[in-house]
Amino acid sequence: MSVEAIILAAGQGTRMRSKLPKVLHTLAGKPLVTRLAETTASLDLKGLHVVVGHAADQVSAAVSHLGAQCHFQADQKGTGHAFGIASEHVDNDSILLLMYADSPLIPADVMQQMVDHAQQDKLVMLTVTLDDPTGFGRIVRNDNHQVQAIVEHKDASPEQLAIGEINTGVYALPAKRLKEWLPRLDTNNAQGELYVTDIVEFAVTDGVDIEVVQPQYVEQALGVNDRIQLAELERWYQQFQATELMRNGVQVADPTRIDVRGELTCGQDITIDINCVFEGQVSLGDDVFIGPNCTIKDASVGAGTVIKANSVIEGAVIGEQCDIGPFARLRPGSELANKAKVGNFVETKKTYLGEGSKANHFTYLGDTVVGQGVNIGAGTITCNYDGVNKFQTNIEDGVFVGSNSSLVAPVTIGSGATVGAGSTVTKDVPADSLAVARGKQRNMAAWTKPSKLAK
Ligand code: UD1
Ligand code: CA
Repeated sequence: MSVEAIILAAGQGTRMRSKLPKVLHTLAGKPLVTRLAETTASLDLKGLHVVVGHAADQVSAAVSHLGAQCHFQADQKGTGHAFGIASEHVDNDSILLLMYADSPLIPADVMQQMVDHAQQDKLVMLTVTLDDPTGFGRIVRNDNHQVQAIVEHKDASPEQLAIGEINTGVYALPAKRLKEWLPRLDTNNAQGELYVTDIVEFAVTDGVDIEVVQPQYVEQALGVNDRIQLAELERWYQQFQATELMRNGVQVADPTRIDVRGELTCGQDITIDINCVFEGQVSLGDDVFIGPNCTIKDASVGAGTVIKANSVIEGAVIGEQCDIGPFARLRPGSELANKAKVGNFVETKKTYLGEGSKANHFTYLGDTVVGQGVNIGAGTITCNYDGVNKFQTNIEDGVFVGSNSSLVAPVTIGSGATVGAGSTVTKDVPADSLAVARGKQRNMAAWTKPSKLAK
């Protein structure tokens, strides 16, 4: 049987106190709704439906890459109403997976299991038991432990409020059952809304089996209603990811002080010191060492490379056994061949640094190609920008650039050439020659220092 998923994402989420709708707030760098929707990618869905309302265009854009069909809910009349809008667009013979966009961490295997079990004409629900179930719908069971109903917090009796087992808001069931039941919902409840949760009572009345599934970790099923819960879930998820990294052979100095906001692919025997943030797609080769306080975004780092404290790297391809930092900044388009060195207060942008080449101190290299075995002296600046256009600098193999030199692009320093310290190079330097372009030193003998004027 084909499977379709419906995700509710129409609410504003007023408790976030934000201009942004709740489902666009991020967890581990990704909007809540996008994260949940992306998880469904492994389910082989026939249709992915998202019910949108507040900031509908923005929310739709956050799931458009997944081929989601968005359905507009003008007024938020309750979860039953919202599922009703999407259910008009699903196949009668489909199995449906129903979810709320504010619960971003539902695992794919849990979704799959629920969908599989719903094939036997069952209503499958995901529940967890909490010490503090405040605000959630409670799972009411009879003396035989069979589920009878979900009662919302605001509608619950004192005995029902004492129940710790709660509804996470994830359900799987045949589409034809949902379509039978939705018209029977009413608004006789504390919030005057159409609650999808009332379908549980209909399942009981109609003799449809109810099956309850639980996730491995409670947090995987938790929803976010305010910024406090978002921060708590973020911390849990970060620690969960850190644990996975350690299981796979990465030494994390402190699993409470690493953030992965994207996908981090790791080889073996990598060490990551405290307070490092990884964003986007990052891959680290074997034996990479990353010092404290580094930010690395969309980059690949070759085996054996060392990145020292406080380095900021974005959009870079780094070879093997390179030595970077402390306080290095590699900007997009930086490429380092093996054994290259980029030291403190060095910034690179759209720059290739050849094998074994070094820029160890206080340097800017922009729009530059540096050959092999080059030494870029302290304080070297490529002047790549005239205020309007950018120009290229070529520094060929074996060049030695003396300290505090300005290389005014476009310019080429030929292989084996030397640039004298303090030069402002505006013309190409031929191979194997010495360029000196600075004021000549004059020494005045027996110089009399200025003295204070008498008052
Ligand atoms: C809901 C459940 C509750 C469960 C809890 C789990 C109902 C009636 N209650 O309560 O049993 O314990 O989730 O987190 O379902 N939405 C729409 N359109 C609407 C109403 C809601 O799209 O008309 C969306 C919201 O944007 C949100 C999700 O549905 O993403 C859940 O709605 P919310 O109001 O947060 O439900 P809860 O009160 O948390
Ligand atoms: Ca909620």
